[in-house]
Amino acid sequence: MQPPSSSAGFAELRPWEGTPAAQQPEWREHAAHHEICQRLASAPPLVTTAEIQRLRWSLSRLMTADALVLQLGDCAESFYECAAPHVSEKLRVIDRLGDRFSDLTGQTVIRIGRMGGQFAKPRSQATERHGELTIPSFRGHMINSEIATPVTRKPDPRRMLWAYEASDKVQRVMRTHRQRHGRMPAMDGPWSSHEALVIDYETRLVRRDPDTGDLHLTSTHLPWVGERTRHPAGAHVALLSSVANPVGCKVGPTATPDDILRLCEALNPQREPGRLILIPRMGRNLIREVLPPIVRRVANAGYPVIWLGDPMHGNTVISRLGLKTRYLADVITEALRFRDIIEESRQHAAGLHIEVAAGDVTECIGGSVESEDDLPRHYTSLCDPRLNVDQATELIEAWVKGSATGRS
Ligand code: PEP
Ligand code: CO
Repeated sequence: MQPPSSSAGFAELRPWEGTPAAQQPEWREHAAHHEICQRLASAPPLVTTAEIQRLRWSLSRLMTADALVLQLGDCAESFYECAAPHVSEKLRVIDRLGDRFSDLTGQTVIRIGRMGGQFAKPRSQATERHGELTIPSFRGHMINSEIATPVTRKPDPRRMLWAYEASDKVQRVMRTHRQRHGRMPAMDGPWSSHEALVIDYETRLVRRDPDTGDLHLTSTHLPWVGERTRHPAGAHVALLSSVANPVGCKVGPTATPDDILRLCEALNPQREPGRLILIPRMGRNLIREVLPPIVRRVANAGYPVIWLGDPMHGNTVISRLGLKTRYLADVITEALRFRDIIEESRQHAAGLHIEVAAGDVTECIGGSVESEDDLPRHYTSLCDPRLNVDQATELIEAWVKGSATGRS
């Protein structure tokens, strides 16, 4: 590890201050809030600037190096699955799927886990009903508990510190794994990523690199902005636009070409390759109308974008039993349509962003999970339904085989 770099950047430059921040927990009145924020502001970085720069360099070479990206992991990471055995199991899955993708395509696959900090969830509904009770929704272990009572769902800022400690454990195992298993000396990861959602937490982990003077978000290698917080004038975009990490941004079905151009301008004004990953997640039907004009506009404007398809978040349905699920067939259809649309505009379809569990879960329908009746067998997700490894393998194989033309 490099020596802890200065946190002075936080005090000097806070472009995210005064901008509206969507999806934030209401916890400022909590007695521990101020102290937790201070402790985070002086905590050592969780990832090093050298690692962040290494990933950014790998991503910048993506198009010329004939490389792909596979970003995968839990929808919501759990505090209870951060010990070394859990992390190793997740890394085994990343390796297995990354190797399969690489073997089938003959290309290097940059592997990025949704892990080491994926503890905060945006929610469409602030509350949910449990019988007679209306209680706050679960927002990830950084904010509250999945246990459904009014007390355990109250946002607790001390969870930010627990998230920092849990992330540290995961990052250490990932670092050892990169050093031991570096196929192309540490070019292809596995790197960490998460949605940079909780502004109190993320802004306290911005550090200035003493050598270059650049600000880095040291909570993860690759932070992304979610669909619900990607407002170009909002705090999340302001935060990510001020740091030198490679950054991602989800692009949902309500996005217009103008919206996305504004985001490109905010997040990658210098038009540097390897800086910005756009992640469409539109749903298998809407993607056909919504994505093509966006890709054309971005390409015509000359922004170098890494296009990564998230074929999961636009295809969530509620089963008869009330469980959230996704049909693998829908996921495959959107993935192939994504690839076709990107390639029709002569852009590089760089790969996939998917939710995959390390265990043999039954959360999505497809393969051995034949129908909705099979879902309760092993449904353990804290949030969205994840593919199991067999289902994810089928998706990767379908992607490699090709075109969605003719799929209905
Ligand atoms: C997610 O990736 O889990 C997520 C919430 O995605 P989105 O912002 O695209 O809805
Ligand atoms: Co999700």
